[in-house]
Amino acid sequence: MQFDIRRFDIYRKVPKDLTQPTLTGACISVSSVLFILYLFLSELSLFLTHEVISELTVEDPVRHTEKIPVFINITLPQLKCEYVGIDIQDDMGRHEVGFQDDTQKIEVNEGKGCRMESHFVINKVPGNFHVSTHSSRTQPDNPDMTHLIHKVRFGMDLQEGKEVKGSFNPLEDVDRSAGQALATHDYIVKVVPSVYEDTSRNIIYPYQYTYSYRVFM
Ligand SMILES: *[C@@H]1O[C@H](CO)[C@@H](O)[C@H](O)[C@H]1NC(C)=O
Repeated sequence: MQFDIRRFDIYRKVPKDLTQPTLTGACISVSSVLFILYLFLSELSLFLTHEVISELTVEDPVRHTEKIPVFINITLPQLKCEYVGIDIQDDMGRHEVGFQDDTQKIEVNEGKGCRMESHFVINKVPGNFHVSTHSSRTQPDNPDMTHLIHKVRFGMDLQEGKEVKGSFNPLEDVDRSAGQALATHDYIVKVVPSVYEDTSRNIIYPYQYTYSYRVFM
């Protein structure tokens, strides 16, 4: 007896002229193709969307000795630019009055007010920096410290990570321009380092912070 391996074929072919299309078959075929297409596209889009993964570490991911760059962009609508300056003070003995390097002052409000954009670095120790008139040779009669904050940023700028959730610039658009003219405004800020790595493995070190506010009349 001749052995024919084709006997084991469980997918036997029916001759083409014996097949017959049916309406049910067509419905099932069309819906399966649509379903497969849907699964394929939804999996593909899931594969292509970016996922943001958050991790929490206890150790400082950046070297402790490093200084923190700060950028501040603030408008004082009722204080002339000649009076505005930044004082920086910290627990390592730094006491700098009227910091001027890397600072731009732009007149606003027809010269009656000032917008200041300033970059400086601070030590990783408790301290404070404040916008004041202390550095000015002549003091204004009624220094009006009402202000509008555009940006206070610690560490590197998280430009392209804008959609990342976090507290990178919580002071943005804080508006104290309607407050008491002679008041002193305090922001108590707690700063935490963070690491942001994008899909092309670029690493930047922005800092996140929270703040509380108090005002003295
Ligand atoms: C500072 O804030 C003002 C007002 O929002 C804006 O026009 C300006 O571009 C900002 N400056 C920088 C360097 O971000």
